[in-house]
Amino acid sequence: MKTYIVAITGASGSIYGIRLIQELIKREIRIYLVVSKQSFSIITFETGINWSGKTNSETEKKIQDYFSSKNVRYYSEDNLSAPVASGSLLTDGMFVIPCSMKTLSGIAHGYAGNLIDRAADVTLKEGRMLTLVPREMPFNAIHLENMLKLARLGVKIIPPMPAFYHKPKTINDMVDFVVGKTLDSSGIGNKLFKRWK
Ligand SMILES: Cc1cc2nc3c(=O)[nH]c(=O)nc-3n(C[C@H](O)[C@H](O)[C@H](O)COP(=O)(O)O)c2cc1C
Repeated sequence: MKTYIVAITGASGSIYGIRLIQELIKREIRIYLVVSKQSFSIITFETGINWSGKTNSETEKKIQDYFSSKNVRYYSEDNLSAPVASGSLLTDGMFVIPCSMKTLSGIAHGYAGNLIDRAADVTLKEGRMLTLVPREMPFNAIHLENMLKLARLGVKIIPPMPAFYHKPKTINDMVDFVVGKTLDSSGIGNKLFKRWK
């Protein structure tokens, strides 16, 4: 069974992470999900979905119910003893979607202060696939330097910039374009957008 770590952080665009998880579940991929503390309220604000539970297991149950799948395991960003904190857990890679500038910075500097930064650090040290969907506008030089540093290490940087050559008609079409390109970055086949021929 393929296994990916997915992190949703407190940048705008939590819908990208949610759509990515739905697509991974369709492919029977196991997901270790870390949702940053800050992103819970942004997810609710932007999508109306409330995953906050009184305990981590209640949060996990809400997430599993939402996706109708037990293939999603949830870990709190504070849980530095979670399986994904160790390279001995074999995974196929990690997606940070959307990725805030704070988390981008933490990853670029190897800070590993929470489970998202640590799991990304582990993914990098083990030479596994790491894809970031960084969202901010405009980018300042610090953001761009952090992205350049990671791109040079082989990290896939997929900024959620819409394209128009696939003739999007709805917001869903635009979201699916970004999610399709995110799946492409890890070689996961998809037909989420119309490809140029
Ligand atoms: C509604 C809202 C939208 C935000 N959008 C972004 C964003 O697009 N990009 C970003 O870098 N930070 C954004 N922020 C700020 C981050 O949430 C903040 O920097 C936070 O510390 C990120 O923490 P995290 O990476 O641990 O989730 C937003 C905050 C709020 C409240």
